[in-house]
Amino acid sequence: MIKLKFKTVEWSKNKVRILDQTKLPLKVSYLEYDDYKKLAMAIKELKIRGAPAIGIAAAYGVVLGMMQGKYADKKEYEKRLDSVISTLKSTRPTAVNLFWALDRMKKVALEYEGYDMESRNKRLLHEALLIHQEDKVMCRKIGEYGAKLLKNGCRVLTHCNAGALATGGIGTALAPLFIAKAQGKKIKVYVDETRPVLQGARLTTWELLQQGIDTVLICDDMAAFLMQKKMIDCIITGADRIVRNLDAANKIGTYNLAVLAKFHKIPFYLAAPSSSFDHSVESGDKIKIEERSPKEVTNFWGRRTAPQKVKIFSPAFDVTPANLITAIITDKGIIKGKRMD
Ligand code: MRU
Repeated sequence: MIKLKFKTVEWSKNKVRILDQTKLPLKVSYLEYDDYKKLAMAIKELKIRGAPAIGIAAAYGVVLGMMQGKYADKKEYEKRLDSVISTLKSTRPTAVNLFWALDRMKKVALEYEGYDMESRNKRLLHEALLIHQEDKVMCRKIGEYGAKLLKNGCRVLTHCNAGALATGGIGTALAPLFIAKAQGKKIKVYVDETRPVLQGARLTTWELLQQGIDTVLICDDMAAFLMQKKMIDCIITGADRIVRNLDAANKIGTYNLAVLAKFHKIPFYLAAPSSSFDHSVESGDKIKIEERSPKEVTNFWGRRTAPQKVKIFSPAFDVTPANLITAIITDKGIIKGKRMD
């Protein structure tokens, strides 16, 4: 049994309660929303982040949005539904879980078109809770399948945060580590700090230490050195969108690791739930990559570290081609990747 000491997102007393991830690890504080537009802003600002977690939060956001309004008739109700969903969809473009969850919410609302508005809202809440619960189960299964890949004493490198903070359960990339540890295996985890906003340094290390895992933080540019020195047995990251040919978008810097892993003949694994697979897109070049505020690059932890006039490019994700992926750990089992070595 893996016990978490925090709740990333929850529906509580007709509000959405999230752990404010922008304050971690210095402060553990929760935010409550009864306004879907404010929740949408929180998603945009990374107060809650990670592909499955933003899908869950957005699903709850639909419930908030529909509870907030008053509608003369069915037509008005559905107009409002479209507007709430489109606001939530506009928050972050890359993680498919957001769109997957919102499309699912819209589908059930439309299926209940013959019911009164209160019943439709109740049905929406039921669906959002279901999305949350299903994610919890998928994380657990990813953990169980993934743990089989981890030998006693193995040393794993991870990037960004794909733990409980990024999901409704125990995480995706971190789930196999938690389960392996619970099975009594000794695991050492190297964590990339993950510039520009440090999800690795701030969030992943925080979670791993809470579970008593041997955790070592490194700067992103140290990963190659560790691989060269044979200090890494495998790499596991999460994924924000895996498309039909198995190309996968994840936090910027993931592709670097995949290239390095192939060069050093180290297995490169992705861990992701079924909700991160986008069957509507054929290949990775069609994935929309989010660009973030230049401030995330010019500033470091609140302080300007670059000259005022410098130009900035700030893609938040990159795409790892399928031929660099050894395997994908999913809730349905392990899919063999296309890397040949
Ligand atoms: O910008 P973020 O922090 O939302 O990016 C998160 C990641 O890239 C994670 O690795 C990914 O969402 C997988 S999370 C289970």
